[in-house]
Amino acid sequence: MKNGIRPLVIGNWKMNPQSSLVAQKLITNIKKELKGIRDTEVVVAPPTLYLSTAEAVRGGSKSFTLGAQNVHHEKLGAFTGEVSIPMVRSFGVTHVILGHSERRAQGETDELINKKLHAVVQAGLVGVVCVGEEKRDQSGNYLNVIEAQIRSSLSKIAKAKLSSVVIAYETVWAIGTGQTATPNDVHEMKLFIEKVLTDIYGRSVAGHMRILYGGSVNLKNAIDLFREGAVAGFLVGGASLHPIEFKEIVRATNHG
Ligand code: PGA
Repeated sequence: MKNGIRPLVIGNWKMNPQSSLVAQKLITNIKKELKGIRDTEVVVAPPTLYLSTAEAVRGGSKSFTLGAQNVHHEKLGAFTGEVSIPMVRSFGVTHVILGHSERRAQGETDELINKKLHAVVQAGLVGVVCVGEEKRDQSGNYLNVIEAQIRSSLSKIAKAKLSSVVIAYETVWAIGTGQTATPNDVHEMKLFIEKVLTDIYGRSVAGHMRILYGGSVNLKNAIDLFREGAVAGFLVGGASLHPIEFKEIVRATNHG
């Protein structure tokens, strides 16, 4: 616990692994490794197709819950290829990742992310809103990018719903590249995000929101990023496919 905030680590499997059988083995091993973990909230977000298997393997585990990597904002209807919130919720999903840069790169806008966030919190799930700059410039313009993403994605989200909103700061240049932002970069950005949230919602609420870091988090850098970055936890991509490394990252968030 840091400032009364329980750490949160989310494993984003992205479009991995290649078959349901391998997914089953992976979730089984993750469950084994995470056994007994309570101090940190852990969420595993497999591809939608594997949610059924993951739910069956998870059983009643108290060590982790399941997340979705994306949803549609409508409950049902003529939306070919899409998946709704009630659908993922029926497989025990508690958290939904929204606006990941890999989806923004395919045209997902802040406006759409905002619609999805409204639908997610309305349904009683937690929305994990990803924000991040593509590159950094000397003039600090990247800060305006982050501020605009936060303001639009959270537009008209009521204060009372903020306990169901998590912000994941993911430097796009650090995702899957092995080039992590430094703990100092992360700390600065965490303070900036808090300032933007304070401007919108006031200090008492903003100070309790969970801000995560994502982008090439691994077992070597997790402790420093958590301590010095002063974030509430991590959104982990590649390393979440390795159960032992994932567990070590989770454990790094217990080094207050
Ligand atoms: P990475 O991905 O850990 O593989 O860099 C993070 C993410 O995209 O969520």
